[in-house]
Amino acid sequence: MTENILELHSISRSYPARQGLFGRKVALRVVDDVSLSLRQSETLALVGESGSGKSTTGRIALGRPNSGYVRFRDAELPPTDTPAWRRMRRQMQMIYQDPLAVLDRRLSILDQVREPLDIHDIGSASGRNEKAMAVLDTVGLNASHAQKLPHQLSGGQRQRAVLARALIMQPALLVCDEPVSALDVSIQAQVVNLLMDLQKDLGLSLLFISHDLKVVRQIAHQTAVMYLGRIVEHGETNLLLSSPAHPYTKALVSAVPVAGRRVRERIILKGEPPNPAARPTGCAFHPRCPVALPECRSISPRFSSLRDGRSVACHAVQTEPSSQDAGS
Ligand SMILES: Nc1ncnc2c1ncn2[C@@H]1O[C@H](COP(=O)(O)OP(=O)(O)OP(=O)(O)O)[C@@H](O)[C@H]1O
Ligand SMILES: [Mg+2]
Repeated sequence: MTENILELHSISRSYPARQGLFGRKVALRVVDDVSLSLRQSETLALVGESGSGKSTTGRIALGRPNSGYVRFRDAELPPTDTPAWRRMRRQMQMIYQDPLAVLDRRLSILDQVREPLDIHDIGSASGRNEKAMAVLDTVGLNASHAQKLPHQLSGGQRQRAVLARALIMQPALLVCDEPVSALDVSIQAQVVNLLMDLQKDLGLSLLFISHDLKVVRQIAHQTAVMYLGRIVEHGETNLLLSSPAHPYTKALVSAVPVAGRRVRERIILKGEPPNPAARPTGCAFHPRCPVALPECRSISPRFSSLRDGRSVACHAVQTEPSSQDAGS
């Protein structure tokens, strides 16, 4: 059986906020009791509307939640900013949507890809350059790209450079937060293929955050759907996207045309988009849910398993009894 490289155990994250303009201070819970696992050399996608807590969950995977804990390679993540955490953190790298926010506009691509080795004083000066050139080659960039400044590259090339900078530390895990969302569609496919090749060649594990289900279908083995800080459905990607069980997953999937299949009727969700400052009681999705039952207003659904191994948190879905529990 494939082992888990990353496990999130009942993690939560709150931010301080004010209720109203001069209102009292409250803690806004934006990730709430999330448990997930990512298997070695596989990809787990995290999907959901804007503000559902995907990026926060991705950041927690590399750091520390307010409550709950993270296990990476069979060990609990140590407190952030300790030497032990820094050592572990090197094996976990993050890729963001905007490469220009990460790259230094004044430094050549080669200097920036080599920089992590300089910072950690790994290898000799010439050895570091060689390593940087080798990793640039791995991501499809050559010696002429290496000498350029970030603004002299295309968006896709810049994202490749960011990938090279992450890969030079030989990470086991990449957390990719919307890594292709800012790229042209044709370039998106190239970068997604590159990530899949890297996974095959280097055994990388990916936590892949995306709102694009077409990309998710291509890259992810497992998918977890988030709504207002909670996971509402989790399972094998093909199953989840071809026969979604949770009404929220159904609505997300219905918005994506699938080539060669009967076009599903688009489910338009009514009501307000999710807002952690106004979390509904019971199931947070119930005010927008087309199949809500009376108990959905007051009782938060527990996680249960479907026969095909998926987990769903919904009162309206027929499930098998399960030991997993999405919380109260
Ligand atoms: N540093 C912060 N301080 C206060 N609130 C925050 C902070 N970071 C995120 N939030 C809030 O937490 C919620 C979840 O944000 P998050 O960025 O994790 O969502 P997301 O699913 O990644 O959304 P998107 O698809 O827009 O990137 C949002 O309501 C956001 O406003
Ligand atoms: Mg985000």
